[in-house]
Amino acid sequence: MQKILDKISDILGEAFDKSGYGAEYGKASVSNRPDLCDFQCNGAMAAAKAFKKAPIQIANEVLENLKENAAFESIEAVMPGFINIKISGDFLAEYMTGMKNSEKFGVEAPKKVMSIIIDYGGANVAKPLHVGHLRPAVIGESIKRICKYAGHNVVGDAHLGDWGLQMGEVIEELRLRKPDLPYFDPDFKGEYPTEPPFTISDLEEIYPAASARMKADEDFAVKCHEATVRYQKRERGYKELGEHIINVSKADLKRNYDDLDVHFELWKGESDADPYVKDMVEEMVKSGLAYESRGALVVDIREEGDKKEYPPCIIRKSDGAAIYETTDLATLVQREKDYKPDMVVYVVDKRQELHFIQVFRTAKKAGIVPQDTDLRFIGNGTVNGKDNKPFKTRDGGTLRLQALIRMVNDAVYDRIMENREEDPEDAAKTAKIVGLAALKYGDLSNQATKDYIFDTDRFTSFEGNTGPYILYTIVRIKSILNKYRETYGTDGNFDKIKAPVGNAEKNLMLKISGFRDMLDIAFRDTAPHVVCRFVYELADAFNGFYHDTKILSEEDKEKREGWIALLELTKGILECGIDLLGFSAPERM
Ligand code: ARG
Repeated sequence: MQKILDKISDILGEAFDKSGYGAEYGKASVSNRPDLCDFQCNGAMAAAKAFKKAPIQIANEVLENLKENAAFESIEAVMPGFINIKISGDFLAEYMTGMKNSEKFGVEAPKKVMSIIIDYGGANVAKPLHVGHLRPAVIGESIKRICKYAGHNVVGDAHLGDWGLQMGEVIEELRLRKPDLPYFDPDFKGEYPTEPPFTISDLEEIYPAASARMKADEDFAVKCHEATVRYQKRERGYKELGEHIINVSKADLKRNYDDLDVHFELWKGESDADPYVKDMVEEMVKSGLAYESRGALVVDIREEGDKKEYPPCIIRKSDGAAIYETTDLATLVQREKDYKPDMVVYVVDKRQELHFIQVFRTAKKAGIVPQDTDLRFIGNGTVNGKDNKPFKTRDGGTLRLQALIRMVNDAVYDRIMENREEDPEDAAKTAKIVGLAALKYGDLSNQATKDYIFDTDRFTSFEGNTGPYILYTIVRIKSILNKYRETYGTDGNFDKIKAPVGNAEKNLMLKISGFRDMLDIAFRDTAPHVVCRFVYELADAFNGFYHDTKILSEEDKEKREGWIALLELTKGILECGIDLLGFSAPERM
């Protein structure tokens, strides 16, 4: 199906063309004066410059070719040369009916199907998820769903941090506790046990213990660094122990991400890029791109027109260790080999921006990816407490993600139980679904790059611009549809939507008609907040219509069935919208 703006632009373009101006001047946009009209066209202004005529004169000439067009209820030229359009009810009804009966509400396959990788987990093995992991997970998952819905081939990668110092820390702590494990015996030649020497609860205790010991004991700290290097050099026992840490941790992280309804197609880690490092670095040295500077191997990334001084990208430190930049570059080598991506999106804390500028520039200079690969850094802002500083627990510690989720679910549970008799078990189930919506919507409705204040009260409110409000609207529609079925004994699924009767109904249809244009923008800008704004405005438009209209008691069967069809479409689009955001609606709430 054609987008509604394109449809209107085509009609206008034809009229511009007939009047002797180019069809390109017929571009329509949603009106910025909804009190005056639904759509507008500013093309006469642009044409005026090119043809050296008064814009209003051009607008009036074009209008001559548009009189009596069934798509418009009214169309007029206003000073200095705007064309104001009110769309006709029949045109809108036909468009609604088309959307309702098309797959994906009329969203077509893109002209070019892109291969897209979204890198959005960033969790570190051996450490539990904390509040800082919320935004990449939630934003990345939504971006992934938006790209998929737009028709592209998309792969989400957790990109676990499994190459850092925490590996050495856990290994050394374990050596203290169980020195007899075969992993620590350099002469061990046999098969290592397949069972990990610890459980996830052991690991949860081991890592903080190791960190504390490292701070207190310098000797231990040196050993942790050494163990990390030996692990990175893939010494047999260390590599094997590292695998256990990764696997035990991964299983737990999976459960945690599942709780957030966040799912990765790939669970690669930084360690998976290691096999690509050696050749990549050699290549960069051979081509002269990388050079020695104070013992380290670096690549210059400055570009003409830079307003800032960018330090070179270090690809090997003086002690020979590969670092974060190297890993991300080698991961791109791997991704290029496996997926030939047209676009790679990184959703990571915005404080890592410099790192990604260095990696992206080096990757292009070294030809690791083609020049036109869209490497996109979505630097997310922080989740702040009421004091507008990054969220901490009461005693100043890092807040675990699970604790944050529980906090929101508890708040929703209390709201549900507040005024109603409800089975506690059912209420807890509903609270989980609604809580997730509160959490995700509270996050996604903010532009990704901005920091925001985590306000449990506001996020869990059933009114206003919140997740629960959207869910409440969907639940309300479901309940009307159920009642309709009970009362009239039919399943609904009507396919014909009628011309709107009142303003609120027309407003609802206009909102729905913008779905495809919204999706295009959300995809173009990889911006979930665009979807949030849309579902919120749509929910509002629906509630306005519902307030104005007695749907179930309407006696005219055709009218009633047209409204039920409109409700079904509204519900479908709202559900699709929240699915793009990564949450779903309960049956009741
Ligand atoms: N593990 C990293 C951290 O905790 C984040 C990884 C982000 N993704 C990436 N490709 N660098 O800071």
